[in-house]
Amino acid sequence: MSPASRARVMVLSPRRRGSRLKRLLHWQVAVATLATTACSGSPSSLDPKGPSANRIADLWWIMAAIAGAVFLLVVVLLAYALLHRRRPGKTHFPGPASGHAFILAGGVVLPVVVLSVLMSLTIKSLRDETASHPADLQIKVVAHDWWWEVQYPQSGVVTANEIHLPAGRHVEISGDAADVIHSFWVPQLIGKHDLIPGQTRTFEVQADSPGVYRGQCAEYCGLQHAHMAFVIVAESDADFAEWLSRQAQPFAASAEGAVQRGLQIFLDSTCAACHTVRGTSANATSGPDLTHVASRSKIGAGTLETTPENFARWVSDTQSVKPGVNMPSTALDPAALHALVAFLVSLK
Ligand code: CUA
Repeated sequence: MSPASRARVMVLSPRRRGSRLKRLLHWQVAVATLATTACSGSPSSLDPKGPSANRIADLWWIMAAIAGAVFLLVVVLLAYALLHRRRPGKTHFPGPASGHAFILAGGVVLPVVVLSVLMSLTIKSLRDETASHPADLQIKVVAHDWWWEVQYPQSGVVTANEIHLPAGRHVEISGDAADVIHSFWVPQLIGKHDLIPGQTRTFEVQADSPGVYRGQCAEYCGLQHAHMAFVIVAESDADFAEWLSRQAQPFAASAEGAVQRGLQIFLDSTCAACHTVRGTSANATSGPDLTHVASRSKIGAGTLETTPENFARWVSDTQSVKPGVNMPSTALDPAALHALVAFLVSLK
């Protein structure tokens, strides 16, 4: 700042100083409003749909309210100090004795009270979070680079990247990782749970009502970390039971010529080296189980919508769609690709 402008600031009238403070406050309110609006557009942990996410959101709002009150107090004190500065020959501020009391109250007592309140609320929330209830359903989730294996041990169903569960029920998830550390996170239902190779972690998920809730790997795990999404589909008991019984069915042979040719191409090419389609001789497990792949809303762990065009794109140009993924791009002539896609689309 040049000496001239410094002098200009020093001679600002109290009225102009007041209007500067007002402008500063307006900016802060505008930024806070923008941040809140941006968050409300996508699945947000501040729009909780289950008990675990509710606890996190409640704690967040209490912390935001306390932090807001402290911030406001500091701004008011700052404004007071700026507007009532000491001038030569005049003493506005309290004397040294009450100054010490002020520092003790604001610098020691207030932080101790605020932090103690926040710590006890956090401990209570953690205790509630780790309290276990009898599980209505058990699901095993294994995180891989870069997809989610989902097993229903009680019914033998295996699927990927889409976790169906009955709404309003206690669901126990035991999570593991096959390669590196991943993190299971569904902002509207549950906070982040790190999944560490060789260490099974058990936690509860409950969705209060039917709906589709987006999940995402929340621990950087390599090139395609951002394309490691999944969804939780919460359904009524009847819809969930119907889904589970459909998923338990093996591949049903189709009379359609293209599907039969597609199955043969699937078994003869590299596909069967990594994937399982129950009811066929393909039973490898290094890639997602594809027995009902066409019933899922997305392919490639949330990368593409499930459409015939995207199946063709995924198979023939995998490494452009999701560079680095453990699946090679497969060159097939158009007729073979068409038949393979017909087979994949039939896996409902
Ligand atoms: Cu898995 Cu990030």
